[in-house]
Formats: sequence, structure tokens, C-alpha cells
Amino acid sequence: MCGIVAYLGCREAYPILIRGLHRLEYRGYDSAGVAVLNDEGKLNIYKAVGKVSNLEQVAEGHDCSGTIGIAHTRWATHGAPNEANAHPHISQSGDLTMVHNGIIENAGGLRDQLKAKGFSFRSETDTEVLLQLIEYTQQKHGADLASAVRSALKKVIGAYAIAVIDRKEPGTIVAARKSSPLAVGLGEGNSEFFIASDASPIAGYTNKVVYLNDEEVVVCRRGEPLYITTLNADKVDFRTKEIDLDVTMLDKGGFPHFMLKEIFDQPSVLRDCMRGRLLPAHHRIILSAVTEHREELIGAKRYLMVSCGTSWHAALIGKQLIEQFCRIPVEVAYASEFRYSDPVVGPGDVVFAISQSGETADTLSAIQMASERGAMVFGIVNAVGSSIARASDTGTYIHVGPEIGVASTKAFTGQTTVLTMLALAIAREKGSISETDYNDAITELEQIPDKIERILAKNDEIKALAKEYVDKKNFLYLGRGMNFPVALEGALKLKEISYIHAEGYPAAEMKHGPIALVDEDMPVVFIATHHNLYEKILSNMQEVAARKGRVLAIVSEGDTVVKGIAEHVIEVPPTANFLSPLVSVIPLQLLAYHIAVSKGLNVDQPRNLAKSVTVE
Ligand code: AGP
Ligand code: GLU
Repeated sequence: MCGIVAYLGCREAYPILIRGLHRLEYRGYDSAGVAVLNDEGKLNIYKAVGKVSNLEQVAEGHDCSGTIGIAHTRWATHGAPNEANAHPHISQSGDLTMVHNGIIENAGGLRDQLKAKGFSFRSETDTEVLLQLIEYTQQKHGADLASAVRSALKKVIGAYAIAVIDRKEPGTIVAARKSSPLAVGLGEGNSEFFIASDASPIAGYTNKVVYLNDEEVVVCRRGEPLYITTLNADKVDFRTKEIDLDVTMLDKGGFPHFMLKEIFDQPSVLRDCMRGRLLPAHHRIILSAVTEHREELIGAKRYLMVSCGTSWHAALIGKQLIEQFCRIPVEVAYASEFRYSDPVVGPGDVVFAISQSGETADTLSAIQMASERGAMVFGIVNAVGSSIARASDTGTYIHVGPEIGVASTKAFTGQTTVLTMLALAIAREKGSISETDYNDAITELEQIPDKIERILAKNDEIKALAKEYVDKKNFLYLGRGMNFPVALEGALKLKEISYIHAEGYPAAEMKHGPIALVDEDMPVVFIATHHNLYEKILSNMQEVAARKGRVLAIVSEGDTVVKGIAEHVIEVPPTANFLSPLVSVIPLQLLAYHIAVSKGLNVDQPRNLAKSVTVE
């Protein structure tokens, strides 16, 4: 869950490393550090607790010169977020320095073994244990850095993405990965190497990227071509990918926060998501994964979906879409529960992994288990080339561009859009939808970005409304049918960025307990857009209003009935029931955002959270 950046080339390393850390800061920000080897062979290491900006202050005015370096922004797993535990770590001899993303599960035993061999430790981290093991291996066998790294990693149980420098080999960086992501950008003519946890620190310098696979070790040596091997030193042939990351996408584009930018990006990125795949003129949805795996998809007796957080909410929507259009039963599971439940899954099952980052450890492990048991894995991922994408048998990228804000917004609507296209495409192949309904659905779906734009135009209205709720301590979010997962998502958005407790419930569930919470100090958000359960949700709303609950309702434009019950309403354009989540979630994203901003909180990097949970 941390971010790693490393550079070897002809330019000064420090600015490249710091810029890269800023782009990775969303992955975790307990501490940050940088190590640069200067031309005299001196390793200068600077660390700071907290943000990358704190690190810049510490390094200010000190020697940061050199054309080779490594850097890290940390989300702690072993040892408190303090300076001693901050990366880069340095070996006992002072020759080696390393940064690491992941968890070394057998670090305790290895630490004891190394202590018995005379090693002492400056930190509580598992990372330092691995570094000292590399040094011990180097000293014992007189090995070069690459050989020592390979040998040490064979003794390691757990997840790692590492970059290591040895000042005895000043023109070399050795990196490796297992279960944590690592990408290598290639500059011109083997003269520059950019190593990072994802492609964002590399964008703008080169568009040629190699994504490492598990248990691969890469050697970047000045003036030599990239060299990748297995842990057994067997050479690995690799393919270079062209990334199309637009650097401007990584900046805030004039918005105060990445989250607000990404909320406002939704119309354009959903058009990108549908481009080339939703073809209204041809009355077709074309998804290559459905074409290539038609028999498995229409022949499956059931589908399963595994994911976490917001992606799990999208899965709940996907379940309803597929069961409605394809008449295939869908089971939705938290990936963290699925992987330890000895699941009944096997050949004939299709398991969908839904993940924005494509690096969520629980989701990755869940699909690896499903694969081992013979199921087909279908990835619905945003990050191209990510671990989950590469662990899937097939899949459909959501193509909404990098999502930097920790609170997921455009990825949620992107996932929901892909799930909608998927359900319709499979239903057509299955013959479980009429041509008329299929064509109507395509037309409705194509109109969604315009409808979202109309809702975004209400941003100031929602901003003003948010101020009325800033001091509230608890919220309830209620919805039915397709809008029940939206209630969960709205509650999660509020929780994770405003730190206000919020719960999402099926509206009818109120009577089974939660209504006891309702009083004049309890805002209750209803998603009450026009659809088949509208009358039922009106009744639930009246039950709450009768108990002086403060009702805020998301309603379809022109609704006058709810206005007579609710204290506040936010109108959204009417849409087909199956597309309701794509419009009803937008005001809830904005409501959460503005409440959090009104509270003066760090919306893009909320406390305790990280964008990609790459550890269990
Ligand atoms: C959502 O706002 C959160 N950031 C979190 O719940 C997230 O959805 C979850 O960690 C799953 O991440 P993924 O989609 O990258 O797998
Ligand atoms: N386990 C290492 C530590 O706690 C790395 C954690 C991370 O991936 O950020 O420092």
C-alpha cells in the first residue's frame, strides 16, 4: 500500500523521485523518504514522518545530488509511522539501501536468525529484516547485489516490491516483486530507468513500460539493456507496453481536490468507458471478452463476484443487472471473506473481480484461489496491467483514467457502466432480452453522461445544503432495489472523508431496528427516484418523518410528492430503473465531498486510509 519510486539515468535523481512520490502519495502517507547516491559514492538519505512535503523540508539545503536514487511513501504495517521505521532503510554496513511495499510474513524468524549472526536493527520493520538478509547473503557468498537479492528473496514468505542500491555498485538498481506491483519505465537507449509502484511517476518521462511479474528480479545497469530473471537467475523475456497516461490527468486541473476533479470527470470518462464498445448507431454493445468467452459466459450456471469497499457496492449492482437481464444467478462476496471460506467454486463458474486499483490484496488472493479451483476469472479493473488484470483469464478495463482521490467516485460509476454493458451484451448473446429492450437500454445508457452533467450543475446547491449537516454525528442512507447499493455507497463516501458515522440500509429494513435511532438530530438520506418501488419508499420516508427524522431525498425531476415530506430534496434527471445508480450516486458524492471540505478535512488523503490496500 505504499509507493516506491527509483531512478537511474543521466538526470538529477532527486526531483524525479520527489515528483514521483507526490504522484504516489495516494497509496499511503505515514512517512516519506529518499536516498540518493552522489558522484563521490556517498549515500544521502532523508526521511520525514507524514507527507512528502515534510520530506522536502527536511532535505532542503542538503546534498541531494546524484543520478541514482530510491524513494518511498509509506503506509505502515510493521512498526509505528515514525522516522526510524520510515524507508529507505540502510544496511548494517551502510552500503545498501532499500525501499519496500508489502509484508514479509516470516520477518520475525529471519530477524532472530540475523541477530544470532551479529546483525542489529534500527527499526521495527519487516523491510529492514529483508535488507539485512540481502547484506548477510552478499557477505557470506561474496555475491553481487542481484545475486544476493535473488537468494535472499527465496527465503522470504510474503509480499514485496523492492528497489535496492549498493554503493559498491553505483550504476545499478536491483528491483523485484511478488504480490505487490512494480513497473519499469525505459528511457532512450538504455540510458534511463524509472521504477515505480505504478505508471503515474513514469508518465511524462517515457511511455515505454515493463510490468514485472511475481518473483521476477530486474537489474537496471547504466548503459546496459534491462535484464530480468527469475529468482533462480533464469533470464526472462519481457514485453514493453506503451502507456497512454496523460500527465495532465495527474494534476488537479484547477480543482481544489482530486476527488472533486474526478467527480466532475465522470461525464467525460464514462464516454471514454463506452467509446468503441457501446455503439448506438449499430444497436450493439461490443465487449471483446464476451465475444471471446461467449460459451463460458452464457453456459455458466452461476456467476460470483469478489471485491472490496466501493467495488463491492458496484458488484451488488452488477448482481441485480445480470439477474434481471441474463437470468443467471449471481453471488456477491467480500473478497476477504471469500478467500478464507473454503468456497464452493470450480469449473463452470465465472468469478468476476471488480477492482479500481487492480492491486487489492484480498481480491487478488480470492481470484487466485478461484483460478486454482478451475473457475474462469473475469477482471473488471481500471489500472491497466495491474496484478488483478494480469491474474484474470479475461476482462474489461473500465478506462476512466487514474483515480487519485482515495474516495472512489469515477471508478464506481465506471465499474457500474461496464457491468451494465456486460449484462446487456451477455443477455443478447443468451437471447434473454428482446431486441427492442436491448436497443432501448443502449439508448438510455448513452444518455447517462449528459444526465450526470445536469446533476453536476447543481454543485453549488449541494454545497450550500452540505453546510446544514456539517455538525451531525450520524447519518442513515436508505434505498431499495437498485438504489440499496447506492445507499451503501453514499454512506461509505461520507464516512471515509468526513469521519461522520453513516450506515446504508435497505429502506424496508428500518422497521427491524434502525428506526430506533431516528430523532430530530438524525439526518436520513433517502434515494427515492421514480421506479417500481417508489410507493414503498414513500411509506418508509413517512415513518421516518413521523419520528422527526430529518429527511434529505434524492428524487426524480418534477417530483412534488416527496417535497411534501422531506426537508430537502435534490432532483436528478429521470432514467430507467436499471440505470438509477449512475445518477442517484452523483449528489451523494458531492454531499459527502462538501461536508468533508466544510469540516476542513483532507478529502484526497483521509486519515488511516490508502488508495490501494495491497496488504491484508
Ligand atoms: C472506496 O472509496 C474506498 N477507497 C475503498 O473502499 C475501495 O473501494 C476498496 O479499497 C477497493 O479498492 P479497489 O477497487 O482498488 O480494489
Ligand atoms: N511492511 C513495510 C513497513 O511496514 C512496508 C509497508 C508498505 O507497503 O507501505 O514499513
